[in-house]
Amino acid sequence: MILCANFKANKTRQETRAYMAVVESFVSVNEIEDTIIVFPPFTALEHIPRNVLIGVQNAYPAQNGAYTGEIALEQLEEFDVKTILIGHSERRHILGETQEQIAAKFRFFAEQDFAIVYCVGEPLAVREQGDEALMRYIDAQCEGIDLGYPDLILAYEPVWAIGTGLTPTNEQIEVVHAALRFKTTAPLLYGGSVKVDNAGEIMALQNVDGVLVGSASLSAHDFCEMIAQAAELNTDIGV
Ligand code: PGA
Repeated sequence: MILCANFKANKTRQETRAYMAVVESFVSVNEIEDTIIVFPPFTALEHIPRNVLIGVQNAYPAQNGAYTGEIALEQLEEFDVKTILIGHSERRHILGETQEQIAAKFRFFAEQDFAIVYCVGEPLAVREQGDEALMRYIDAQCEGIDLGYPDLILAYEPVWAIGTGLTPTNEQIEVVHAALRFKTTAPLLYGGSVKVDNAGEIMALQNVDGVLVGSASLSAHDFCEMIAQAAELNTDIGV
């Protein structure tokens, strides 16, 4: 299983340090073999060897240069970061990233051999039009994306389920994941209001290889509890 914690614009450097201490100790004491990835804010990056992976929530697709307000490859290399989240719905819908920009970012970081957690997912209006419309929408979000990229992790995150407490039914998750399984052999994560109460159940679904957790991952205790649930399922596929 693969479990990701996406902090978004939450937690200070100090809080992240305390959080990592709890999660790292949990992973080592319990000899967890599942893949754990934490995406802290840039300001909390530290150059410390870890037994969990650290990824970034975004970066600019360039070595360095005149990109005011952005962080590029050179700055990530300083922290040995080799994992990135691309295509998250908040970047698409709040920050206005286009599919073209997202695909360019994907190409750049794939060329740099990054592990890429690539997110797709439909707004409610599309979900309401049925499965065919939904898959057409997701296909469009895969335009320009190499779904055969060996270090790809694909996350299905319905926009209406992110941060809302709403989740699709287990069957709805399985339908989308089955369709995605036809497109790629990459591990498939589900994300959107995953919490301690539903993580185990979701991770046990067909073609679900892990979870991408936002709000509920902010508690180290809760995140560790979800890691324990994954370990119980004992279906580590690793990456
Ligand atoms: P959520 O966010 O768990 O708070 O719904 C998930 C995500 O945005 O990755």
